[in-house]
Amino acid sequence: MKLLFVGDVVGSPGRDMLKEYLPKMKEKFKPHITIVNGENAAGGRGITEKIYREFLGWGAQAVTLGNHAWDNREIFEFIDDAKYLVRPANFPEETPGEGLKFLKLNQYEIAIINLQARTFMPALDCPFRKAEELAAEARKRTPIIFVDFHGEATSEKQAMGWFLDGQVSAVIGTHTHVQTADQRILPGGTAYLSDAGMTGPYDGILGMEKEAVIHRFLTSLPVRFEVPKTGRTVLSAVLIDIDEKTGKSRKIDTILINEDHPFYH
Ligand code: FE2
Repeated sequence: MKLLFVGDVVGSPGRDMLKEYLPKMKEKFKPHITIVNGENAAGGRGITEKIYREFLGWGAQAVTLGNHAWDNREIFEFIDDAKYLVRPANFPEETPGEGLKFLKLNQYEIAIINLQARTFMPALDCPFRKAEELAAEARKRTPIIFVDFHGEATSEKQAMGWFLDGQVSAVIGTHTHVQTADQRILPGGTAYLSDAGMTGPYDGILGMEKEAVIHRFLTSLPVRFEVPKTGRTVLSAVLIDIDEKTGKSRKIDTILINEDHPFYH
């Protein structure tokens, strides 16, 4: 079975990109399941119910989150009813929402796990121990397990990949907004990529207006970052081919769509 995962959708430029290319990618690659990271989808911070529903309407079957999950307060009103929204599992026990969701699609059942890293990020419960616990729980129902590991440090993400090798189908990093070129199948059959990259503005810095970010580096003063409303855009994704019987991955390919890497159908 084929799984398509689209990296961090940032603001309206990211949503426009997803709306335009998700149907085209689905036609070309014919994935059995499509998952989108939506933690920056509302103006670069958080997600709203309308956006979550739009993503499902455009062809996503599940939406993962990250450290910006709670930035748009609307999340607290709909997360408990959002069946296909997955937030980092290693938040404290009483946090709304869930970090492991099961999805039944045709003959396949897939487990989706979202975790947040801790290096250069807010303190949370141990993502490794939580991953081990949830992967074991998921394997009771299905061998097809996808992990979105939302983190800053490539070392922590590689550690998670190796730690879960053979226990899950894929460990795909998100959060840095820069697609890495280290896609591989680990010896135990886990597809790995340090970061899927972002979907949104192509000429900004991590999806934000570059002038403000440069100003911050020059002055060290607090600056408000905004998503540019116009300009060129990029979509970053990854396509994974999984053996549905064993849950082991056979192949992983990155996808990058922008003016320098046009999409051919
Ligand atoms: Fe993030």
